[in-house]
Amino acid sequence: MAALNDAPLDVVIPGDKSLSHRALMFAALARGTSSVRGILDSDDIRSTAECMRRLGAGVPPLSADMSINAAGVSALRNPAEDLDCGNSGTSARLLSGLVSGAGITARFTGDGSLSKRPMKRVAEPLTRMGARFEFERGEGLPMMVIGGPLMSIDFISPTPSAQVKSALLLAGVTSGAAVTVREPARSRDHTERMLAALGASVSVSGTAVSLRGDTRALSVLDFDVPGDPSSAAFFAAWAVLSGRTIRTNPVSVNETRTGFFSALARAGARISVEGQSVRCGEPVGSLVIGGRLDRAFALAEAQIPSMIDELPLVACLAAYAPGETRVTGAAELRVKESDRIAAVVANLRAVGVDAEELRDGFVVRGGRRPLKGSVVTHADHRIAMAFGILGALDGNDITIDDPDCAGVSFPGFWNELARLRGGA
Ligand code: S3P
Repeated sequence: MAALNDAPLDVVIPGDKSLSHRALMFAALARGTSSVRGILDSDDIRSTAECMRRLGAGVPPLSADMSINAAGVSALRNPAEDLDCGNSGTSARLLSGLVSGAGITARFTGDGSLSKRPMKRVAEPLTRMGARFEFERGEGLPMMVIGGPLMSIDFISPTPSAQVKSALLLAGVTSGAAVTVREPARSRDHTERMLAALGASVSVSGTAVSLRGDTRALSVLDFDVPGDPSSAAFFAAWAVLSGRTIRTNPVSVNETRTGFFSALARAGARISVEGQSVRCGEPVGSLVIGGRLDRAFALAEAQIPSMIDELPLVACLAAYAPGETRVTGAAELRVKESDRIAAVVANLRAVGVDAEELRDGFVVRGGRRPLKGSVVTHADHRIAMAFGILGALDGNDITIDDPDCAGVSFPGFWNELARLRGGA
């Protein structure tokens, strides 16, 4: 094992997924030419790009340096084809708001996983604003969204969800209606930061966000998309479990996204942020991560929203942490790309870890290894990558049924992991 104070290995983290979705949508809503550099080129972002094209926005193929020429909300039209959101909940939910406010009628579809995910959470408040939703079965996709003139809303969201909040804010932008969303805890706040940076009148008070009515005109976007902290988390985990130090390119260090890194530091890791700056309202910096895991994770429920996508990785890390990690208040994990509570616990057990499901979380007792067995991803990118990190540790022997599903958020993941393991 390399010494803990080795020079950091540089890791290349691709563009943030949440910010890439939003950059494409906001660029298409502005009037004029937006410049977006470093956008994530992954399956989910390709779904949003194609949906925007079907809505009539001139979105070119995804590339490192994109110019998006748009004519604003009034240039959008009813799509001739379905809006196929693939595996992407963010595309389906945010675009349902955008379409509702733009007065557009569109049929939304998705893959097998997305079709099972709940859409009522956006349909209910958007219906209250004046849109119509028709479901073909249950409350998943396919769904028809019939937009129209919308009324203002002051919505108390039962769950902290950036997708719900953003759907309503986008409906406000495209319709001109005033929107307030109150959450039980603060979810990621990229939409409100980006809207404010583009000239919209947004105010935040505690866990409530408000958009003033009549903010249809957005400035064009000039944005270097920072790396995705949720992707960086996998290599942070690899570093602390293999006794190495890594340094990332600039990633979003927005505190509504960095709960995982705070929890990792409390469990013994050494983490610092270099070269901080702000891009389009979004705090950005390079993460340097080393040290080791010397105790179990202790997570307060209030911290869960800021690390919701990293919880499968926390469960995998907990297998290596001395003692018991108990996560509660995370029932949302059951309605992600897979039922992540069931998937992560079954897979941990399959490789020999002592783990159990809770209704709203999980318990993992660290210490048993080496780990050996087969992992079923349920086509969930974060399950594949979290177990990929365990599989990359010396002595473990883990096979993953569908490693390619990492392409939803991080197409180069396996190559980057192999490069790091090789010490390059
Ligand atoms: C996202 C919000 C989160 C997160 C998802 C991306 C976003 O979902 O899990 O990966 O970009 O707004 P919820 O809003 O359902 O919590």
